[in-house]
Amino acid sequence: MSFRTSPRPPATPPSATDYTEDVSPGSGALPPRAWYAASDARSLSLNGRWDFRLSPTADAEDDSFAARGYEPGGWSGVEVPGHWVLQGHGSPIYTNHLYPFPVDPPRVPTENPTGDHLRRFDLPPDWPADGGTVLRFDGVESCARVWLNGTDLGTFQGSRLPHEFAVGHLLEPGGNVLAVRVHQWSAGSYLEDQDQWWLPGIFRDVTLLHRPPGSALDFFVHASYDHHEGLGTLRVDSDVDGRVLVPALDIDVEAGTPVTVPVLPWTAETPRLYDGELVTEGERVPLRVGFRTVELADGLIKVNGTAVLFKGVNRHEWHPEKGRALDPETMLADVLLMKRHNVNAVRTSHYPPHPAFLDLCDTYGLWVVDECDLETHGFTEQGWRDNPVDDPRWTPALLDRAARMVERDKNHPSVVLWSLGNEAGTGRGLTAMAEWIRGRDNSRLIHYEGDPDCRDTDVYSRMYADHAEVERIARHQDDGGPGRRRLPFILCEYGHAMGNGPGGIADYQRLFTSYDRLQGGFVWEWIDHGIRDERHGFAYGGDFGEELHDGNFVCDGLVFPDRTPSPGLVEYKKVIEPVRIEPVRIEGRDLPSPSGADRESGAGRGGTVRVTNGYDFADLSGLAFEWSYQVDGESVESGPLVVPALAPGQSAEVELPPPPLDPRGSEAQWTVRATLAGETAWGPRGHVVAWAQIAVTEPASPAFTPSARPAPGDGVITLGPGTFDARTGALLALGGVEVVGPRLDVWRAPTDNDNGAHWQTDARHGPLWRALGLHRMRHRLDAVEARDDSLTVRTRVAPAARDLGLRTRYRWTSDGTRLRLTVSVAPEGRWTLPLPRLGVRLGLPGSADRVTWLGGGPGEGYPDTMTACMNGRWESTVDAMQTPYVRPQENGARPGVRRAEIGGLRVEGDPAFWFTARRWTTEQLDAADHVTDLRPGGTVWVNLDHGQQGIGSQSCGPGALPQYQLWAAPAEFSFLFSEVRG
Ligand code: GAL
Repeated sequence: MSFRTSPRPPATPPSATDYTEDVSPGSGALPPRAWYAASDARSLSLNGRWDFRLSPTADAEDDSFAARGYEPGGWSGVEVPGHWVLQGHGSPIYTNHLYPFPVDPPRVPTENPTGDHLRRFDLPPDWPADGGTVLRFDGVESCARVWLNGTDLGTFQGSRLPHEFAVGHLLEPGGNVLAVRVHQWSAGSYLEDQDQWWLPGIFRDVTLLHRPPGSALDFFVHASYDHHEGLGTLRVDSDVDGRVLVPALDIDVEAGTPVTVPVLPWTAETPRLYDGELVTEGERVPLRVGFRTVELADGLIKVNGTAVLFKGVNRHEWHPEKGRALDPETMLADVLLMKRHNVNAVRTSHYPPHPAFLDLCDTYGLWVVDECDLETHGFTEQGWRDNPVDDPRWTPALLDRAARMVERDKNHPSVVLWSLGNEAGTGRGLTAMAEWIRGRDNSRLIHYEGDPDCRDTDVYSRMYADHAEVERIARHQDDGGPGRRRLPFILCEYGHAMGNGPGGIADYQRLFTSYDRLQGGFVWEWIDHGIRDERHGFAYGGDFGEELHDGNFVCDGLVFPDRTPSPGLVEYKKVIEPVRIEPVRIEGRDLPSPSGADRESGAGRGGTVRVTNGYDFADLSGLAFEWSYQVDGESVESGPLVVPALAPGQSAEVELPPPPLDPRGSEAQWTVRATLAGETAWGPRGHVVAWAQIAVTEPASPAFTPSARPAPGDGVITLGPGTFDARTGALLALGGVEVVGPRLDVWRAPTDNDNGAHWQTDARHGPLWRALGLHRMRHRLDAVEARDDSLTVRTRVAPAARDLGLRTRYRWTSDGTRLRLTVSVAPEGRWTLPLPRLGVRLGLPGSADRVTWLGGGPGEGYPDTMTACMNGRWESTVDAMQTPYVRPQENGARPGVRRAEIGGLRVEGDPAFWFTARRWTTEQLDAADHVTDLRPGGTVWVNLDHGQQGIGSQSCGPGALPQYQLWAAPAEFSFLFSEVRG
């Protein structure tokens, strides 16, 4: 028996959209060149309202729309720059690394949303007709085909890269028609698998630029700095003859001629730019020259001879309504926020940003790791088989991407490292890119994280390594091969800022400042990519019905989607502050207080602090120092502190003034601040850059002597001002304040870091806590004992189905006006997990609103996120104490609280406690998916915690370090409750 083989199917006829599956970068575009903001050349912005039509597939509609005279009747419109899915056409998709289409490179799905865009324009009357006009697209996702006046100009891929076409010969004075067909999916999509929303559209500027005859096709500013001699060398290469002028430096030379003059160097801390011009026959190109030399020396990344410490962030471009279509104000807002929070570096994860952003980095001073638009992370699902990065057919596309980045951005002094891309595996394509970049620009170093062998890179870079590993690397004790061992080390991503957190960044910073090899890192990431909508507040993955998505993993930034700083940014600012202020000797703490006579004679200063300049380049002349002396959190005296203009790395011991006489309260402390001495480009005079608090006297336990006795009544027991339920022993009221009696609470709405990333199976506390039943603890009442001067309630707190529990005793006493509650907790059974929290929860009437406290503030803090909490007296409201994490979770605890007042109730802690108040229960907070799910109830719930589990950053990275974990152990803690009248 024989089988007939079926005939081969006919080859698919080439379609008009074959370019979407083309591994080549496209056709028809001009070679890449340097971007510059302005010149005396003419430009016409084509941004604005365009006619728009969306088709479900790439070739559902023919090309006739590109012809002149086509009437787009029935079309709608979109704003350019913009993404059509954020303008009511289709919807966005969020995936972390999974391709939202079958992986069959370079093929793309038939369902390929395609947006046809039309823009009609007239030329301004005096537009030169010499043919030297180009049409520039600064960013189109993912692939475009362009026609002008019916002529097909070509196609391109490379979403976050510029593409230009020569169009001078096609332009008419009036009635020009620009037609752009944009496909959501293309071969290029395989190279753009970054963890972010898939957002098709013309999302950056479209510009018509006139380049007069005799203009430079391209120019390259080489501006180095010799730190030994203080000399800068400038050479501006241009492909046409021209002169280079820098008036402030008396430079007037031929293009291509090097000139060496004394200059002030450019650094991120001292961003000195010199304005100049490249004058060619056709055009005067503005130059902004920053002199600096980047090199690998002594195994370190050095700029101008000095090793730099990156205090960086990873910045995706994001706007909650416009997606990646960023306006200049938003870019500036990012830069100012970064500078004001002591951030000194940006990794442009994971693609070159809008070019104007780099101008801002030059101007305000930020080190930039400029990353290529390349990520193929989804191939990890198949063990990197077929990874385009190791397939020579894709190499031209990779080289095109590298060249478009380097050529566009090469004249920015802020760019100190080129990054080949992110999470693209390893392969020949990367090597080709690195070789090309080195050949074109050897004045910068090369970064890429994904190759453990560091074949193509100048820096050993990792993401999310834990503290212990980072320390091993610092000591050259890791298992890296010899190639990698000699390289400097950075964490290109760490401190995953998803939801509440990141925790443990202060511990990283201690490592970074202790070991030379560690040159800092870049927190992941700058901003939550939430999309604003009414239903969700901010939407995240899955909110648009995506069949594949990664939920709120897209909301993992230091600022909320609307750029409000989250507590994580406030913490980071403090952790990376560039000045260290430490006590050396403090009067009253280490030595007896001065006598009155000593004070009058000026002897007996308040002590000495050591101030250290932690900048790499700047001295401290830009900062003013001030001290204040606080008693019980309130400043009783303040004044300036004279600190010398220390050079980087230098320290000085500075005397504090005599402390004020006769402090009224029980706790005294010094606060020393370093502020901007004058207004700078990025911050006002007085802006706080760094600070420290130094305790003089430690808080004392509140005095209390029990005197009242419990008195039985009708179903109640009274004790001093307290009324208790006689049967359960629960506190019902304190004086006139109704209370839902405090009882033990161990549950918190798991944070994203508690939940952990799904691939991190070890110690993901959120799910394990839930499996153990910590969210449904039961309280068994064992005894209510009213005896002598106390009311004692004995309970056992435990979850169903488990034999472990917490034997808990509440002991109430009173001095007649106050109630003292002492909670004793004894764990039973085998606890294999830390507790989320340990404390009591109580309810107050919903009218409770204003909160005052003495302790840590003004923002929240947890054991490993509270560096930025200042000890002081604070005032807020219940609503304002909530931190609106995009996905609701535990938030809002104020640490180290000694005293708090809320709703007529005063609570004093013995010892200090964590204070949290909210208008919903922890269970409601836990159940909410978005902030809009949270509805205030009639009770304000207050948590007074003796302990909190650390936060860590296990949503992608290590969990809380051991010293921040809250293990079940015998514990005793007390609160004094009283009524505040008035
Ligand atoms: C990294 C990746 C980032 C982001 C992060 C987690 O692996 O480079 O793009 O996905 O993890 O948020």
